[in-house]
Amino acid sequence: MSESSHLPWAATPPAGSAIALYARATPELAGKIYAALARLHEAWTQHGDGAVQSSSLGVEDMVITDLIARHQLPLAIATLDTGALHAETLALLPRIRERYGREVAVFRPDADAVVRFVRREGADAMYRSIELRKACCGLRKLEPLSRMLAGRTAWITGLRREQSGARAEVAFDEDDGQGRRKLSPIADWSWAEVWAYVQQFDVPYNPLHDQFMPSIGCAPCTRAIAVGEDFRAGRWWWEDSSKECGLHAKR
Ligand code: ADX
Ligand code: SF4
Repeated sequence: MSESSHLPWAATPPAGSAIALYARATPELAGKIYAALARLHEAWTQHGDGAVQSSSLGVEDMVITDLIARHQLPLAIATLDTGALHAETLALLPRIRERYGREVAVFRPDADAVVRFVRREGADAMYRSIELRKACCGLRKLEPLSRMLAGRTAWITGLRREQSGARAEVAFDEDDGQGRRKLSPIADWSWAEVWAYVQQFDVPYNPLHDQFMPSIGCAPCTRAIAVGEDFRAGRWWWEDSSKECGLHAKR
């Protein structure tokens, strides 16, 4: 279906699509949209080019990109391409360009360091131990993140309190432990509200969300969840861990 034929008033989402399954507008949604927009405006007035939206291209981040672009905020948008993302995730980059006329800056890991790691530990190292998994996240995510954030004073994330117990206290504006502000303008939105926004504003999204992947990271470390499983159960599913890669650890 083309984007233009998928207009909110014309759309009956296909049965089983994430929109059909999850979108539920709440009486609070309009106020939450307004408040999120006000936070993004404030990010621009306080930080200007010092602020960057850090987008995983997941649905929460697509909502934020839509708010930024729809309201013509000149905030920078960037993503970390770990070299292990699904093709469906990367396909959002040209869709963002076509839809919003915005370029997403792409930060990639040091290719030599990744090749050395894979030669030494194997392509499936992450399944063997938490240490190796964290080493892979360090190389593919944290090192490029530090380049993405170099010279910045604030980053904008799609973290939401509902995502996990570890995220229950996420603030709209907090210290990231590295001297920057971490801004999470939709921290108080529910999953149903995120999808109601997507439906209302026809936001492009990763089709893997239609396949029971609410939280999408690298392909080897993401799988679909079963009915009743936690939101982040499909991430690093083999681990009995906090299910965090370190991007949001206070370092
Ligand atoms: S993760 O830490 O487990 O990977 P999650 O996928 O829930 O995080 O995303 C939470 C937020 O972290 C996103 O809304 C986004 O701001 C940031 N983030 C996660 N992955 C990336 C990525 N590949 N590139 C840029 N930002 C990311
Ligand atoms: Fe490596 Fe998996 Fe971490 Fe991606 S999520 S960087 S593939 S361990």
